[in-house]
Amino acid sequence: MTLHTADLLVCTTCRSAAPVNPLATPDPELRAGAELAAALLQDPPEGLRIIPVECLSNCARGCTIALRKPGAWTYVYGNLTPEVHLPDIIEGARKYRDADAGLVPWRERPEHFRKNCIARIPPLEAPNV
Ligand code: FES
Repeated sequence: MTLHTADLLVCTTCRSAAPVNPLATPDPELRAGAELAAALLQDPPEGLRIIPVECLSNCARGCTIALRKPGAWTYVYGNLTPEVHLPDIIEGARKYRDADAGLVPWRERPEHFRKNCIARIPPLEAPNV
């Protein structure tokens, strides 16, 4: 049994700012967000639950993902291109999974995460932080 310690939500309806390579997917109509979710679901990183969702309300800056876990800050990241940023997403999600309260030191985050954090939301359990 796999123990999921963090959720990686992936917007499947995002269109990437960068053009999707039509040769990279058998379905040229597949949106970049769906392509990203499919790639992550194909080989999910240990301890991460990949959750496809429709729209995280960051449409103008897609592709968009969010990271969440109990007792931790939630982070939303954008401007992701599946062909380019898949390694950054996996690296950043693993560090988030392993960090207390989801707080990865800024310098240890992938560069794309440092420059494209759309929002961070306090833990439900600590409303006064
Ligand atoms: S379509 Fe992806 S955030 Fe809205």
